[in-house]
Amino acid sequence: MGALTFLSSSLAVCQLLLLLLPSIARCADTLFEGGTVISFDDATQNVQVLYNTSILVSGNEITSIFPQSRNITLPPGTEIIPSEGKILSPGFVDTHRHLWQTAFRTIASNTSLAEYFSRYGEFTQVGTVYSADDIYYGQLTGIYESLNAGVTSILDHAHHTWSNDTALAGLNASVESGARVWWCYAIHNLTNGYSREEQLAYFQDLLEDGPSRNSSTVEVGLAYDMLSLDTPPAVQTVVDLAIQQNVSLITMHTLGGPWGYLNGPTLANSYGILNTTIPIVFSHGSYLSVEDVQLLRSTNQYLSITPESEMHYGHTHPISHLAQDQAALGIDTHFTFSADIITQARLWLQVTRRLLYQQVLENWRIPRNNPMSVNQAFLLATRSGGLALRRPDIGVLREGAKADIVVFDGSSPNMLGWADPVAAVVLHSNVGDVQHVMVDGVFKKRDFRLTVGDDYAEVQQRFLASARRIQAIWEETPLPGLQGEFQSGSGIYYADAMTADVVRGNGTGY
Ligand SMILES: *[C@@H]1O[C@H](CO)[C@@H](O)[C@H](O)[C@H]1NC(C)=O
Ligand SMILES: *[C@@H]1O[C@H](CO)[C@@H](O)[C@H](O)[C@H]1NC(C)=O
Ligand SMILES: *[C@@H]1O[C@H](CO)[C@@H](O)[C@H](O)[C@H]1NC(C)=O
Ligand SMILES: *[C@@H]1O[C@H](CO)[C@@H](O)[C@H](O)[C@H]1NC(C)=O
Ligand SMILES: *[C@@H]1O[C@H](CO)[C@@H](O)[C@H](O)[C@H]1NC(C)=O
Ligand SMILES: *[C@@H]1O[C@H](CO)[C@@H](O)[C@H](O)[C@H]1NC(C)=O
Ligand SMILES: *[C@@H]1O[C@H](CO)[C@@H](O)[C@H](O)[C@H]1NC(C)=O
Ligand SMILES: *[C@@H]1O[C@H](CO)[C@@H](O)[C@H](O)[C@H]1NC(C)=O
Ligand SMILES: *[C@@H]1O[C@H](CO)[C@@H](O)[C@H](O)[C@H]1NC(C)=O
Ligand SMILES: *[C@@H]1O[C@H](CO)[C@@H](O)[C@H](O)[C@H]1NC(C)=O
Ligand SMILES: [Zn+2]
Repeated sequence: MGALTFLSSSLAVCQLLLLLLPSIARCADTLFEGGTVISFDDATQNVQVLYNTSILVSGNEITSIFPQSRNITLPPGTEIIPSEGKILSPGFVDTHRHLWQTAFRTIASNTSLAEYFSRYGEFTQVGTVYSADDIYYGQLTGIYESLNAGVTSILDHAHHTWSNDTALAGLNASVESGARVWWCYAIHNLTNGYSREEQLAYFQDLLEDGPSRNSSTVEVGLAYDMLSLDTPPAVQTVVDLAIQQNVSLITMHTLGGPWGYLNGPTLANSYGILNTTIPIVFSHGSYLSVEDVQLLRSTNQYLSITPESEMHYGHTHPISHLAQDQAALGIDTHFTFSADIITQARLWLQVTRRLLYQQVLENWRIPRNNPMSVNQAFLLATRSGGLALRRPDIGVLREGAKADIVVFDGSSPNMLGWADPVAAVVLHSNVGDVQHVMVDGVFKKRDFRLTVGDDYAEVQQRFLASARRIQAIWEETPLPGLQGEFQSGSGIYYADAMTADVVRGNGTGY
């Protein structure tokens, strides 16, 4: 590393090194000079706003945060990013996503969850239609959407594991993107011949010697929805492998109610995986019990609330506001809505306010206070995500944290005049205000443009060709009937939701 640090004083050499040794080479230090920094105060356990403050980044870490007025000697070759009038925020954290699905963008705007299962989910024709290249370009494009929006860490529930090749392609794209990704290999029962034994063997290959092995940004984890569906010995095989390999993370969909998917903290605990050093993130958790939430607290595991997804699909989130101290935010299926976490934080803030006001109004009382603050929403979108991943060095701007930094230009018509940077970001910003994004000390967006490599135009073209091919196939595929029982033997039947119509009479349809 000594030799590399020496060489990196020349920018050209540094860039060459980045190309050759992306996982270890580092460019010169960077100073974000004199901005408004949204930090965290341990004493108050709340956000701390630092005005006229500079951030020094060395390698992939924040090495110093100090008042702009302080006269310090910078390391030679430090690049200075003037930040006056800008808001410096930690990178946002998305704790639930299926990155491969980008090619479905806009073709499922009115889909329901039942339709999703039989049309867009992991057990549909996807396993025969998607090539490894389709996965690669969909995954990469999905990650670029996040980076553009200032989302620097993503927990990917990667259920595109229909073959060794499609699995590798998604992991490979994650590594090449430069984003921080917990790429979680889904173990599932497929009908295309890719057996559980083969999946487990390949998962182990990727853990031991996959493309993320030397990466400082990507980790391999496990996605396992079959916990409540597999026979106990089958579960034990998966659980034993995860523990023996000490995987970086385990994630699973958790629904309950009429939907099934009874994975949850109580069940995970019965298999001995809830209370180990491995972080577990349960997505949605709409029907978690009091005991489930207590288990989350006592074992320090997290719930991923995906506000827009739970509203779009109707899982709903009746109890999530009661578990927010063990929760973070996620996106889920970004082909049916956008992937910026700030939008999710804003939606969640207002939905929670509405719900908590309602409790007072039902008693014909007038709420004198506002039940949730922008600071709470901001922490949910940043620091809580880091904690869900058991990474206190992510989702915060503090000395020693990873250099995942988002710079908002505060001068757009929608932001001009801000005094509280947290309110400015949570309530008034949009993706267009994100000027720079740094991940692990490397700029991924600079002056409002992604800096993801010279081949970005080609990636766009390849993705577009893939998306057009896939969309044409889905257009030709008849919609599922959805008659009778939801799952055979469940005793749960389909029914029609009343459709909303904004025009009198028989209206607009879709
Ligand atoms: C920040 O610096 C500017 C000019 O350098 C000054 O006008 C302003 O009062 C400072 N703000 C704070 C909070 O110190
Ligand atoms: C900052 O420190 C350097 C060297 O320590 C000194 O040369 C310079 O004059 C100082 N600048 C100010 C504004 O105090
Ligand atoms: C969604 O809209 C399409 C037309 O764009 C329509 O054919 C389809 O029935 C709708 N799907 C659902 C689930 O309502
Ligand atoms: C997939 O990987 C596993 C584990 O290395 C291997 O046993 C299997 O043969 C591979 N499958 C194919 C089709 O290459
Ligand atoms: C990781 O680095 C080691 C040593 O630098 C090298 O031997 C190995 O091939 C690399 N593995 C991968 C998957 O790139
Ligand atoms: C990803 O795949 C491409 C070819 O599709 C290859 O050039 C590249 O080395 C792979 N990257 C990693 C990290 O495995
Ligand atoms: C999935 O397959 C494995 C064997 O490959 C079996 O043990 C397990 O019970 C199956 N799960 C379901 C839900 O069918
Ligand atoms: C698993 O890995 C984590 C992170 O590297 C480490 O902190 C923990 O001690 C490991 N657990 C076991 C049981 O080895
Ligand atoms: C989790 O493990 C710790 C010690 O490792 C123990 O003190 C605690 O009671 C356990 N909690 C549960 C819910 O099992
Ligand atoms: C609305 O549609 C229904 C079913 O297609 C039809 O029976 C009815 O006459 C229509 N009503 C009007 C006002 O057009
Ligand atoms: Zn999901």
